[in-house]
Amino acid sequence: MTSNALSTVILAAGKGTRMKSRLPKVLHEIAGRPMLGHVLASVDALDGVRTVLVVGPGMDEVSRYAKSVDPETVIAIQQEPRGTGDAARSASSNVSSASDVVLVLFGDTPLVRSETLAHMVDQCRKASDIVILGFEAVDPTGYGRIVALDGEVARIVEHKDANEAELAIRHCFGGPMAVRAAHFSSLLAKLTDDNAQGELYLTDIVALGRAAGLYCSAVFCKESDIQGVNSRAQLASAEATMQERLREAAMAGGVTFLDPATAYLSFDTRFGQDVVVGQNVVFGPGCEIADGVTIKAFSHLEGAIVAESAEIGPFARIRPGTEIGRKAKIGNFVETKKAKIEEGAKVSHLSYIGDARVGAGANIGAGTITCNYDGYNKFFTDIGAGAFIGSNSSLVAPVKIGDGAYVGSGSVVTKDVATDALAVARGRQMEKRGWAAAFRAKNESIKKASSGD
Ligand code: UD1
Ligand code: CA
Repeated sequence: MTSNALSTVILAAGKGTRMKSRLPKVLHEIAGRPMLGHVLASVDALDGVRTVLVVGPGMDEVSRYAKSVDPETVIAIQQEPRGTGDAARSASSNVSSASDVVLVLFGDTPLVRSETLAHMVDQCRKASDIVILGFEAVDPTGYGRIVALDGEVARIVEHKDANEAELAIRHCFGGPMAVRAAHFSSLLAKLTDDNAQGELYLTDIVALGRAAGLYCSAVFCKESDIQGVNSRAQLASAEATMQERLREAAMAGGVTFLDPATAYLSFDTRFGQDVVVGQNVVFGPGCEIADGVTIKAFSHLEGAIVAESAEIGPFARIRPGTEIGRKAKIGNFVETKKAKIEEGAKVSHLSYIGDARVGAGANIGAGTITCNYDGYNKFFTDIGAGAFIGSNSSLVAPVKIGDGAYVGSGSVVTKDVATDALAVARGRQMEKRGWAAAFRAKNESIKKASSGD
């Protein structure tokens, strides 16, 4: 047997009925990533040899997602949801024979820290046959209670099977369990469904292990790290915990939040130092924000790379594929998508810049729109360095505005504009002297004639 070869089993075959959703429970997102993605990431950090995911029949969406994260994931099918012990059994033949420890995790407890899991695995290798993860519950209702005896974990009793004394125990089982691989299958084989729910409980392997002379211990973590998600309310609570964690990490790295509770981050949001984030700012997945960037209130960003000292918002919508250069400025009510805004360029108000490049130092006037879509295809607008686009212009793509060119306000530009040229594409202004006065005089006299006598 090779040492230090960890196999992980993730249980995700439960129906998740309390979510009231067509989407499988473990695919509901926390901080922009499915719960299962958080669990897989916590496992990834452990350097294991194999991950086995247990799903129910027809849960292909879940398997596909896991494979997209880690193509090596082995999928095991639990034919019927007959309990966590049965689910673990479905996986046991897929556990790598080279493994020394098997770590069982639940797909619906996405906040467990990988350091905690590493500690459990380590304790299992060094000093214990089974290590369970426990926590002290403010309200233990529904959780399995940890029954301790002489400093050992004697058994876990499920809420529905507990007597009054056991119900008073506030030390609860959180889900993760590390088991020496040599005992994993044999302990699971001994499970019976002789309990209140008529299920095979994974938790019973603790008492079975003890009866076989094995030693079981516990690692404890904070309740907020182990909260399970069975309902939408619990999903919201897990989201809040994750947001707090992400903001704390960002602040520790040098980000100022003007009102931390109103900033929403994604699992992968990356910040440099001295970034200032205003009130009510949302970061969807895929954002990288460099040093010294200021993002003002009510801005929404996703899939955006923002370079040093750029300024965004308030009220900006930055969509996927946007790259904002150093010291560039995106102002209020500006939407960008697949747009490269180069160094020092300014798009200050009320614009849509999609499928476009805005060259360094260019100035885009208020109300400028890149007309990038004809209902079938998307076309590119290329605006050269130092160009000046007058307010309320429509740039009908594909179109290229040369470096340093000017576009007159209100133009509808359909043809390329040469470097340093001026393009004006709007109706010519004409003027009739005295027309308004004559018009008024005529109408006033008609009004008088019809009401006078
Ligand atoms: C389980 C524990 C309980 C613990 C709690 C922590 C058991 C018997 N009970 O209870 O001690 O305090 O978690 O949150 O283990 N699953 C399957 N197949 C099944 C049943 C469940 O794959 O047949 C999966 C679910 O998808 C879920 C996980 O196992 O990811 C836990 O199942 P769940 O029914 O939510 O267990 P709890 O009742 O919460
Ligand atoms: Ca649960």
